[in-house]
Amino acid sequence: MSEFTVGERDFLLDGRPVRLLSGALHYFRVHEEQWGHRLAMLRAMGLNCVETYVPWNLHQPAPGRHRDVAAVGRFLDAARAAGLWAVVRPGPYICAEWENGGLPAWLTGGLGGSVRTRDERYMRHVRDWFGRLLPEIVSRQADRGGPVVLVQVENEYGSYGSDAGYLAELAALCRARGVTVPLFTSDGPEDHMLTGGSVPGVLAAVNFGSRARESFAALRRHRPEGPLMCSEFWCGWFDHWSGTPAVRDPGEAAEALREILECGASVNLYMAHGGTSFGGWAGANRGGESHEGGLRPDVTSYDYDAPVDEYGRPTEKFRRFREVLARYREGPLPELPPEPARLAAPVGVPLTGWAPVDAVLAALGGEETTGPRPPTFEELGVTRGLVRYEVDVPGPREPYPLSVRGLRDLAVVYVDGVRAGVLTEAEPRLAEPVAGPARVELWVESLGRVNYGPLLGEPKGITGGVLHERQYLHGVRARGLDLDAFGDGVSAVPFTTPPPAGGPGLYRGTATVRKAAGDARLELPGLTRGFAWINGFCLGRYWSVGPQRSLFVPGPVLREGENEVWVLELEEAAGAAGARLLPV
Ligand code: GLA
Repeated sequence: MSEFTVGERDFLLDGRPVRLLSGALHYFRVHEEQWGHRLAMLRAMGLNCVETYVPWNLHQPAPGRHRDVAAVGRFLDAARAAGLWAVVRPGPYICAEWENGGLPAWLTGGLGGSVRTRDERYMRHVRDWFGRLLPEIVSRQADRGGPVVLVQVENEYGSYGSDAGYLAELAALCRARGVTVPLFTSDGPEDHMLTGGSVPGVLAAVNFGSRARESFAALRRHRPEGPLMCSEFWCGWFDHWSGTPAVRDPGEAAEALREILECGASVNLYMAHGGTSFGGWAGANRGGESHEGGLRPDVTSYDYDAPVDEYGRPTEKFRRFREVLARYREGPLPELPPEPARLAAPVGVPLTGWAPVDAVLAALGGEETTGPRPPTFEELGVTRGLVRYEVDVPGPREPYPLSVRGLRDLAVVYVDGVRAGVLTEAEPRLAEPVAGPARVELWVESLGRVNYGPLLGEPKGITGGVLHERQYLHGVRARGLDLDAFGDGVSAVPFTTPPPAGGPGLYRGTATVRKAAGDARLELPGLTRGFAWINGFCLGRYWSVGPQRSLFVPGPVLREGENEVWVLELEEAAGAAGARLLPV
């Protein structure tokens, strides 16, 4: 058991100054059987600590329903077994390029701008959640023999709001629930962020990617005392669909790290190992200075151009960082752990089964609702997935433009069963006018909820209405299909053979792995956009717009022999496309 405390200039472990050399690794972005390998990579890089967020929405899919909260404790136990301290950032908001910044959509749907404030409709759920989560962390604090040395309050609150009472209440909640290790806040190194995001009496830390001296000087204007810590050193960055991959020069990043350490500061590399946003949990940004512009959804890979890449391999950045960090550690650094097994040879995955999306919806969809106006995803209880909206254009009437108000994010539209086009928030009107009577189907997809900025928590679906000319079309039938429904229920889907011309639907195939199974990536040539699963494990979204070209398949998901592959294609599959697994 050790006492970890905040001194006048340093962190203290049983009274002796220590420096945290930490790296972010999100347990929820790495297959559990690979935690040990990734943690050993962090140790080998020269780190003495791992940092993770906790995504509330992953662990509480519905009010009163929890999913594997114990994973947090298991991860902290793995950190301890790996010989690392741990910093935990339980949110409730985490940003992190994670759907809705970690807030449950069932909560934000009705609350809008009241989230991340003292509003009681929000806080009562936060208290419930922390009541469930914090015991996993509290029992693993350093003063109880565990690895946890710091707990963060909220996340970059100064970039969002100024409800100081909210932050103070969260800090008090942590204390009341037994958090005894130091608390801290993290913010950008700007005056308004530090004033909005810090709490009197709670350690303040700063997030930045370069110019450590300037950033710490800004922090010192607010906090003349206390240890210096860069709580997120952005040594890489994330990618958006249709964007250009982020790359940061390893030598230049290593220099920026050196500058942080020369200031005598502790550091948390964001990310040390990014991993993958499995399960369709990737978030989204909105463009422009205001973060209110067009939607920019995040890719599935969270490689982050981090020192340990998405597949767990050391990069040039890893070697450069190791050299810098070695100077701050006593004795030789640990060796790199043995590499994880890789798939031995490519495996073709002929997609021989197929079911139209209608049949998938019939087997796995939620209840159908009917009402005058379209419900949002939140009203239907859909987090990640899609909703089929159906509405009639009364007739007879002349052809008029058909458009959607408040479309989030994308709709594939059929008029009388014939595909009529794809609508987006930016282009919400069908190219061809529609005459009545007609039956219109709109398959609306969420491309990921915003995780940063003033539009955090905005709802998905048809949030305005369907317009014919400028008349609202009332009487909308809606039915949701949530990714969480894809499990054993898929056996109830009536598969037939794929249509020769391809098309949307749920495809099924078998990957027969003859030699040793291991880490692989799944390529889906000819497919456009959707989600893929192997043996029921959701690898995430694929999209032919790039820049991501294949999906990471963690070795533990594959087995020798037959592996079942499902691909939910939502737009077009050109011909009888074959998927393939390739070694990483
Ligand atoms: C901020 C957030 C992180 C992450 C990074 C960008 O610093 O605190 O959660 O979103 O930006 O990757």
